[in-house]
Amino acid sequence: MYNTKIAGAGKFIPEKVVTNQDLEKLMETSDQWIRERTGIEERHWLRRGEETSSTMAAKASKDAIKMAGIEAEDIDFIIFATLSPDFFFPGNGVMLQRHLGITKTEIPALDIRNQCSGFVYGLEVADQFIKTGKYKNILLVGAEYHSGGIDISTRGRGISVLFGDGAGAVVLQPTDKDKGILTTHIHSDGSQAEILSAKNPGMHGGYYDEDHKEGGYDVSTDHPFVLVTDKMMEDSLIYPFMEGQTVFKTAVRKFPEVIKKALDTAGYTTNDVNLVIPHQANLRISQFVQKLLHLRDDQMFNNIQKYGNTTAASIPIAITEALEQGRVKEGDLVVLAAFGSGFTWGSALVRW
Ligand code: UT7
Repeated sequence: MYNTKIAGAGKFIPEKVVTNQDLEKLMETSDQWIRERTGIEERHWLRRGEETSSTMAAKASKDAIKMAGIEAEDIDFIIFATLSPDFFFPGNGVMLQRHLGITKTEIPALDIRNQCSGFVYGLEVADQFIKTGKYKNILLVGAEYHSGGIDISTRGRGISVLFGDGAGAVVLQPTDKDKGILTTHIHSDGSQAEILSAKNPGMHGGYYDEDHKEGGYDVSTDHPFVLVTDKMMEDSLIYPFMEGQTVFKTAVRKFPEVIKKALDTAGYTTNDVNLVIPHQANLRISQFVQKLLHLRDDQMFNNIQKYGNTTAASIPIAITEALEQGRVKEGDLVVLAAFGSGFTWGSALVRW
């Protein structure tokens, strides 16, 4: 049995910067409100038609592949985490394979949802395949094109100011037993799935809607085509929805819990940790987590100020930046942790 190491990392961030002041021109919000509640100063949004989540992923992947010292054709498995894929189907995994020109090897491409936890979920999946020796060069990416699917009017301000576009990728390879990924933990609780959701377009056909439960309309006759209905468009039901405070309160409970689980399992304490790289959900959430776990400033990695919340992309983007800035060195003990829609959450403990 092998362990799994992160052999290469890369990121792609769209060129266009959208500051909080830019958002003030689009909706009733303020730089002060956004900074105070989220810590975000700016984010990057794609221009229409410029890129997609899979093309951004390809750019991030090329850097990760280069750092790992391999060629694209050496990749033997693609795992792609996103909530903003190019198409309803097929998934982004095969699109990435195409963009990278991996044409001869017919490798598998797996698509992962799991929103903000997508990267950590993907890491646990990849780890199983590397450990057993089945694959030797797994490309794991998280990429999001949020700006194309959010409500940028005042009605959507509780969500739209938070999210940014971007992609991050890592190449995973086998390593010695005492290095690399030491432990992973992934969890979910679907009892509050709608609290942070984008239900439409979707194939629920009104099943979860109140008026359906009350017999307000008959799905089979009123809406034979259920994916995108006139009602969804008329009522603007196509945008993401979030009960922010419930998400916040659950996040600040689950992040420390799952980080401690990782450390306890491997026999370490927070004192042993060189760096925690959390999913960049909200700077206030990360500061809360830091306080609860008694971590020093130099033990926490934050870059949400520049990029906003990039969901599945946030951890691989942060890994890439932490490496670029020399904040992660060989031998360091690093914790990755995520929490988000589903709810889903997870952690990974890595000896670099
Ligand atoms: O990646 C994981 C998923 N997401 C998260 O982790 C996010 C978790 N939640 C949060 O980060 C916070 O709940 C938010 C930053 C989203 C919101 O902060 P909050 O302190 O929970 O604010 P709130 O939703 O309770 O809203 C407070 C007020 C409301 O006005 P009233 O009703 O008090 O008059 C909102 O309408 O702030 C208003 N508001 C805004 N005002 C200016 C909401 N969004 C904005 C905005 N600009 N962008």
